[in-house]
Amino acid sequence: MEKIEHESLEAADSRKQSHLDLAFKSQSAELDKRFYYEPMLSGHPAVEEEMSFKLGDKVMKYPIWISSMTGGTSKAGPINKMLAKTAGKYGFGMGLGSCRIILEDNTYFEDFNLRPILGDEVPLFANVGIAQIERILQENQGNKLTQLVEKLSADGLIVHVNPLQEWLQPEGDLIQQSPLVTIEQLLNEFDKPIIVKEVGQGFGPHSMGELLKLPLLAIDFAANGGTNFSKLELIRNKKLQDFYSDVVALGHTAEEMVTFLNESVEKLGNVRKCNNVIISGGVKNFLDGYYYITKCELDAAYGQAAPFLKYANESQEALDEFAEFQIQGLLMAQRLLRVK
Ligand SMILES: Cc1cc2nc3c(=O)[nH]c(=O)nc-3n(C[C@H](O)[C@H](O)[C@H](O)COP(=O)(O)O)c2cc1C
Repeated sequence: MEKIEHESLEAADSRKQSHLDLAFKSQSAELDKRFYYEPMLSGHPAVEEEMSFKLGDKVMKYPIWISSMTGGTSKAGPINKMLAKTAGKYGFGMGLGSCRIILEDNTYFEDFNLRPILGDEVPLFANVGIAQIERILQENQGNKLTQLVEKLSADGLIVHVNPLQEWLQPEGDLIQQSPLVTIEQLLNEFDKPIIVKEVGQGFGPHSMGELLKLPLLAIDFAANGGTNFSKLELIRNKKLQDFYSDVVALGHTAEEMVTFLNESVEKLGNVRKCNNVIISGGVKNFLDGYYYITKCELDAAYGQAAPFLKYANESQEALDEFAEFQIQGLLMAQRLLRVK
């Protein structure tokens, strides 16, 4: 958001006139009750100010994460490249969409080959679903996951745990054992950082408590409140709509999950091994993001999928503009707002 240094007299006149015209249209509506607004305590942030966030060996310039979105279709490659360009430019972290398609075959490798675009500074994570991980480990093929991460020059692996979506999908993969067991097996065999996420339903308090006991690099909420893959499966299938429409309401919001997390952190004490969180799923903008990361008792970044996708679908310029407004908004929030 560029500031105008010296406004001309005519421009000032027109601005004042528009204030008069717009005043009646600008009566306040509902207040955001989540924050105290504190105008007395701080100056404006500097234009290039950073708000760094450390994740593993990498440091992001801002606690903003571009959540996993899929590859392997004709449009996915260009979109992934745009997202990576923005992440690299502004110092955001990024999760790849499911890399299943390039586990054994490199036809679509270039859609996922984002490290050269992203640069080495920021975190990039590969992504595989729990059902594939279960199968790969059963077949003693864990080295395929290491090879995947290495060929992508990624910093580690995101495991998406999506049993409700798989159950709804007619072509879904069913899992045989608790994802916790699979992830513990993975932790024993795989020596790179692991992040566990849902895909838009979130985790209940017991799942959250168990995840926090594992030596994961981070838990990514992927809460219910934004993109909902159960709903997406329902839209794809009329039969499901008839019988399972209430399933879309299952899960937990990011707000609820911050409470689960804080309660677990307190209860677990030093039994907890996971120290970082990505708060995502229905995070609309920097105000939601700032609110959640401030309330969260672990080091947290906030993640968004659909909001980034919306602008990536328009153009690189639209995506960069969105990123810049998010950054400036977040810096403003840090200076002027206190979470209640
Ligand atoms: C088009 C699209 C594709 C996605 N593909 C994946 C995927 O392959 N793997 C995954 O873990 N999550 C995937 N997600 C889920 C997101 O990472 C995220 O958890 C979810 O969309 C909630 O975030 P949002 O409300 O900001 O969209 C996808 C989301 C979208 C919108």
